[in-house]
Amino acid sequence: MTTPPFDPARIPREALPALVQACPKAELHIHIEGSLEPELIFALAQRNGVSLPYASVEALRAAYAFTDLQSFLDIYYAGASVLLHERDFEDMAWAYLQRAHADHVAHAEIFFDPQTHTARGVDIGVVFRGLGAACERARRELGLSTALILCFLRHLSEEDAFATLEQALPYREHFIGIGLDSSERGHPPEKFARVFARCRELGLRLVAHAGEEGPPAYIESALDVLRVERIDHGVRCLEDAALVRRLARDRVPLTVCPLSNVKLCVYPQMAQHRLVELLDAGLCATVNSDDPAYFGGYVNRNFLEIFATLPLDAGHAWQLMRNSFEASFIDEAARARHLAAVDDCFRRFAAA
Ligand code: HPA
Ligand code: ZN
Repeated sequence: MTTPPFDPARIPREALPALVQACPKAELHIHIEGSLEPELIFALAQRNGVSLPYASVEALRAAYAFTDLQSFLDIYYAGASVLLHERDFEDMAWAYLQRAHADHVAHAEIFFDPQTHTARGVDIGVVFRGLGAACERARRELGLSTALILCFLRHLSEEDAFATLEQALPYREHFIGIGLDSSERGHPPEKFARVFARCRELGLRLVAHAGEEGPPAYIESALDVLRVERIDHGVRCLEDAALVRRLARDRVPLTVCPLSNVKLCVYPQMAQHRLVELLDAGLCATVNSDDPAYFGGYVNRNFLEIFATLPLDAGHAWQLMRNSFEASFIDEAARARHLAAVDDCFRRFAAA
């Protein structure tokens, strides 16, 4: 592990909330459909004449009591049903990007689920153009860089994923990579071996959700069969010591989502979250919001809750902020620039 360019003991725990707020960071695990706040769901439902099975914003929010991943996904897909037109996708993404900017996110790699929309008759071009307009506006007005990662829904067939890839290829310059999300249990990475091999040939970056609810073996097959470069979640790697050593040795990043893990009952409470063990094992773990509108907060809320609850110090904070840029798919010049900005921020706090 790299040594910090400052003395972590000079930054007390009480300073960590201000440091988290001030420090530039990358967010690498955010489902844009999971940033749809209940207020926007209702506004879009009204604008588009879509009826919702909830009487009010409050009634919808009250339904956000999840027992596992599937109980969340059922509500998350229902919420996305209000997205029909380019402007809807643009409004959703712009709302997220403004919140991310307020959290000092300098770069965001954003997941989207085209099959959720094409299955309802929405053309994939509508999705690309709407999200693309918001991302372009964020670059121009906020100085926030973005990249889109197209996720295949793993509860659907590999044939459906291939068909989605075909529809997406005319928009190849609009996305940098491929992910795999939705119901993990019973849908191992191997199910998508051929389509991921094709995406690799096309030069797309590859990531996959694995080891959130699924076993450590799914993390191994995501690496060995799908040949992904990052694991989304991955927290269940801790059940396999050899796998932890491999992830540390190869610096395979894990995009960890603490509030999500508590809301979806991967851990009963934040105090039981095992992020510290991941960091202390030398893993390139990062902190992300996953589905911020559903799980109680955006990326800085995740940082604030882990620092309030877990035995983490300024050295860990520095590692997490650095890891977010180390694990990102930005070019080397941008990476060096962002890493220098992180170091500057920590040096400033250590000198205060
Ligand atoms: N896991 C799997 N699929 C998802 C998630 C998640 O946390 N969020 C949105 N789709
Ligand atoms: Zn996710």
